[in-house]
Amino acid sequence: MATMQMKISPEDLSKVPSSSSRVPEPTIIVIFGASGDLTKRKLLPALFHLEQNGLLPKEFAIVGVARRPLGGEFAADMRAGILEFGGVSEGEAHLDAFIDKVHYYAMNFDDGEGYTGLRAELDRIAGEHGIGGNRLFYLATAPEYFTAIIENLGAHGLNKPAQGTVRAVIEKPFGHDLESAKELNRQVNAVFAERQVFRIDHYLGKETVQNILVFRFANGIFEPVWNRNYIDNVQITAAETLGVEGRGPFYEKAGALRDVVQNHVMELLSFVAMEPPVSFESQSVRLEKLKVWQAIPAIGITNAVRGQYGPGSIDGGDVVGYRSEERVSATSGTETYAAVKLEIDNWRWAGVPFYLRAGKRLKGRATEIAITFKQPPLMIFNRNNMQGDCAEIQPNVITIRIQPDEGISLRFGAKVPSTQSVNVCPVTMDFDYASAFGKSSANGYERLLLDAMFGDQTLFAHRDGVETTWSLYTPILEAWAAKTPLKFPNYAAGSWGPDCADELLARDGHKWRKL
Ligand code: BG6
Repeated sequence: MATMQMKISPEDLSKVPSSSSRVPEPTIIVIFGASGDLTKRKLLPALFHLEQNGLLPKEFAIVGVARRPLGGEFAADMRAGILEFGGVSEGEAHLDAFIDKVHYYAMNFDDGEGYTGLRAELDRIAGEHGIGGNRLFYLATAPEYFTAIIENLGAHGLNKPAQGTVRAVIEKPFGHDLESAKELNRQVNAVFAERQVFRIDHYLGKETVQNILVFRFANGIFEPVWNRNYIDNVQITAAETLGVEGRGPFYEKAGALRDVVQNHVMELLSFVAMEPPVSFESQSVRLEKLKVWQAIPAIGITNAVRGQYGPGSIDGGDVVGYRSEERVSATSGTETYAAVKLEIDNWRWAGVPFYLRAGKRLKGRATEIAITFKQPPLMIFNRNNMQGDCAEIQPNVITIRIQPDEGISLRFGAKVPSTQSVNVCPVTMDFDYASAFGKSSANGYERLLLDAMFGDQTLFAHRDGVETTWSLYTPILEAWAAKTPLKFPNYAAGSWGPDCADELLARDGHKWRKL
């Protein structure tokens, strides 16, 4: 298929502001579960990038909290994490000064006295760095500790300081079904007002995800055709080549539907399907997203399929099947692949199928949204014998590539040069982030951490949204839990997933897009 590239001119690019000069108020970020991978791989590198770009206040500190007595080892470990995962070189100008702001406090999350000590330690650190009462508590622990931490923060008055603002960022998974999510929301809101709560979904921090709204609402030509009159179907894919990467015990309880579909994929869906919000502000954006999820009727068990990978080969190397992964049951019934078909019963989307799929150990890594348009009412071309891609006239497709190869493409038909015949072949117009703007190093957490410090909730999940998406998937999870799949594993690592996922679309005469 032929491809044309779109480029932004150097003059235009030079007019784009590189960063805002606004910095948040002096703050202490307190990370619970700081000895885990997330802190070292994502949070600290993201915070350091903010520091490098002058986006953090001068009066600032990070306090890692975890059970192990790590002392000074913690700061050294975070330094190593910034170098390894942040693409930062030894000797980088701000690094030592930044690491001086990194502290550690060891405690058990359910030990009340620990919080009295933590409070005193935070006051001491605030004094040392000239920070007032602002605190950002980041819950990056395993979810079973969320309740103890939230209740203890409340019981020790850490949720409302005498002066300053307190906010709580809560990592996923936010609950494991509707009931647990409701219960967690109840516990969180008993201690923190909703405006203090930042339920994180790192997909919302991705540039390409935010760009879906810009693509739709900052351009005049797409919105008029963005509806059931012109769109035939929408496919959202989150395909990974990675397996469970040592997270066996977590994944055994999660599975693909809980881990990726209920949250990341549903966030993508809401951005694709929402009505234009009144403004790009938290309340308006979150309201429009909620309306999309609320308009989805029960999915129905026949519209959901699951898979689990067996042994296979990824990028030329042999990999084990899921059941042979570390700390995974040899008879596990956990799905590593899930696909669903759903509809959105509103005026814009009635009758348009949305197909969602997410899986691990697939043939390639690609997160993308493909919007396939209806064919013209009458086809007057391609009456001759053409082969391959050109054998049939292909529908127009807008593909939004979230990652990797971030960009957007439009497929359309073009005349194959010939003096004798008129034949149509698909070609692609392509916008590629890297060639237009240069590669961005931001990992999503930078934007989200900054927004949380500013108190901007636009890119965070709201209580009602989380409960609505759980209400859609809980019946499927329950039905799956009640019936162990006999046919697992049902796809080979390195393939594009199980046959049942192809059958789900074949019923409607559709096929998954080739990635
Ligand atoms: C996480 C899931 O939330 O998202 C992981 O727990 C998954 O299992 C990851 O691999 C995918 O994120 P990204 O940014 O790599 O697409």
